[in-house]
Amino acid sequence: MIEYENLKAVNHRFSKDLVKIAQETIDSGWYILGNRVEVFEKEFSNYLGAKHCIGVASGLDALFLSMKVLDLPKESEVLVPSNTYIATILSILQNNLVPVLVEPDASTFQIDPKEIQKKITSKTKAILPVHLYGAPCDMAAIGTIANDYGLYIIEDCAQAHGTVQRGKKVGTFGICNAFSFYPTKNLGALGDGGAIITDDDGIAEKIRFLRNYGSKIKYQNETIGYNSRLDEIQAGFLSLKLKYLDEMIEHKKNLAQIYFDNVKNPFVKLPLSHRGHSTYHIFPILVERRDEFRKFLLDNGIKTEIHYPIPPSKQKAIKELESQGKIKLESYPISEKIHSEEVSLPISFSHSVEEIQLVCKVINQFQ
Ligand SMILES: Cc1ncc(COP(=O)(O)O)c(C=O)c1O
Repeated sequence: MIEYENLKAVNHRFSKDLVKIAQETIDSGWYILGNRVEVFEKEFSNYLGAKHCIGVASGLDALFLSMKVLDLPKESEVLVPSNTYIATILSILQNNLVPVLVEPDASTFQIDPKEIQKKITSKTKAILPVHLYGAPCDMAAIGTIANDYGLYIIEDCAQAHGTVQRGKKVGTFGICNAFSFYPTKNLGALGDGGAIITDDDGIAEKIRFLRNYGSKIKYQNETIGYNSRLDEIQAGFLSLKLKYLDEMIEHKKNLAQIYFDNVKNPFVKLPLSHRGHSTYHIFPILVERRDEFRKFLLDNGIKTEIHYPIPPSKQKAIKELESQGKIKLESYPISEKIHSEEVSLPISFSHSVEEIQLVCKVINQFQ
């Protein structure tokens, strides 16, 4: 069986060093906000080419705190892709702000700058582009719109560690930008974790308070804060895995190339626009007869996933908000098409070239 993802195999390669880090952390007696977090924060901001990195408890928290720190007026509107993962939308709602869903471009799957422009109102205060699947949004066009209308950009980079656009890593375009280290990500911890990236000294300092009960000096609380801290042990694991991130991305790029070169099936649409740009957290294809296709692959020993089966606008939780008048929903045909046809193919650090060649062969046999 070719698994969609095998985290045990991904981390097995590092297991000797991971155990060493775990043992050293146990022996240090210091488990939260210590040297390992500080070191990882420096390493990750250097890797991205940014000034500050602040480790937090998850990607959702990274998004939530990125918006919190901006102190936007209540009920400000934040533009967000209609085909994103629910966490992006939740982070807006948790700030008492209003998510405005924007259709993606059908060929890139990323938020469409032309559609962004149509959704701007006097209440719009920020754009939250999500670099979905590891491919970059059009940050040049989004940057121009943000400048023209005086809007903040907050990037959701949860799926795009190391993705580059125009020579710059994503996570360095917005005022503050969020990463997730959920175990399946290209840079994944062995538990939850996240980080905020910013070049703004004042914002970085405020987020450091906010993540730690609003406190700079122990037991002195200057502002209403939260508990959202990256664990020492996870920071240690992340420092180790960061050293191999580019190698992992390179491996995934090679696997993607195999798909691009070998999949030749008229029923399968490849993500051609991602070629040469994505870091392939996910390799998304579109297939009209999705259920049949996935069953065919499974019957031939290949597991796939869907990212994501239900669009946010059709989720029960979001529908309820609509009925309470807290969010306005429209129809999102491009998004819905992606949600109904998307299939994620295996593309993990643990997959071999031979396995992906076999996946291609089976895909080409689907009729
Ligand atoms: C696009 C996107 N944003 C945010 C998140 C939230 O990250 P976390 O699960 O670390 O809270 C995820 C996680 O999968 C994601 O894919």
